[in-house]
Amino acid sequence: MLNIEKTGEQLDLLEKSRKPRFPLPGKEPFYSTRFGDAYLGDSLEVMQALPEGSVNLVVTSPPYALHFKKAYGNVDKKEYVEWFLPFAFEVKRILVDDGSFVLNIGGSYNPGSPTRSLYHFKLLIELVESVGFHLAQECFWYNPAKMPVPAEWVTVRRIRIRDSVEYVWWLSRSQHPKANNRAVLKSYSADMQRLNGRGVRGTTRPSGHNIKSSFARIDAGGSIPPNVIEEVPPDLLKFGNNAANDSYTLKCKKQGITVHPARFPAALPEFFIKFLTDIDDVVLDPFAGSNTTGSVAERLQRRWIAVDNVKE
Ligand SMILES: C[S@@+](CC[C@H](N)C(=O)[O-])C[C@H]1O[C@@H](n2cnc3c(N)ncnc32)[C@H](O)[C@@H]1O
Repeated sequence: MLNIEKTGEQLDLLEKSRKPRFPLPGKEPFYSTRFGDAYLGDSLEVMQALPEGSVNLVVTSPPYALHFKKAYGNVDKKEYVEWFLPFAFEVKRILVDDGSFVLNIGGSYNPGSPTRSLYHFKLLIELVESVGFHLAQECFWYNPAKMPVPAEWVTVRRIRIRDSVEYVWWLSRSQHPKANNRAVLKSYSADMQRLNGRGVRGTTRPSGHNIKSSFARIDAGGSIPPNVIEEVPPDLLKFGNNAANDSYTLKCKKQGITVHPARFPAALPEFFIKFLTDIDDVVLDPFAGSNTTGSVAERLQRRWIAVDNVKE
């Protein structure tokens, strides 16, 4: 994969030739940037207007089926899978053959009970068995900033622990989606660097895995990230999504606009955009909210399309 960033001159040329990526009949972007277009409207309709096989990556966080309603409205858990499937069929149609669909979805409790809902697992099963996606890998977003809820079970009766992961289903159209973990390597740990300096003796672990003496040669540029996405700069390690002072939040405050209640952190789309796409590929977020995905795609020089049905 070739991921060479464009020079200023190339960017200027691109700017001059810029037009909506896929002129959609009867649809004007709400706003456009150098690399992308944001549409205001129902993402099902926008996706229906997109040509088949035109998008490399769909990364999104739809409204979750929470039993309490957020300002922008959530669909009831029972109806959730039914509600979501038409979007999923469209996502599959517009993806290229080696494209991916990365779906961030939160778990939740059954109303009035200290037991967990299975809706996100039910959705996953339908996405694979009815829509025809492949489950490339299940990933998790470690979000230490999640609130200790429901208070009844966690902080009052103290019979459940704090929930701190969200699910990220990495689905693909084919069994071999484009992916390159070299694009998301992490720095080697101090232990790994020590091992590398010292060298390891060939051995067999109790699990039966053979460790070769060449194992600790860490010249691959970094360690392969786990499927738990976190952030601590410069690595993608451990983060919350409650940043009170990022530029989006500050601009909202300045203009008196309500801050989106359910943003994901930039590190989440960033990880998957780097991992699963190349420069100039097309990234779509059909439930874009504040358009975190578009802003990251712009920075990474990927073309992007974002849709939300709420103007703010
Ligand atoms: C969980 S939020 C996404 C937040 C986003 N990831 C961010 O970082 O800001 C889900 C979004 O889906 C939008 N939405 C719900 N139904 C939609 C639809 N049919 N078409 C377009 N957007 C929709 C909601 O308005 C909401 O902003």
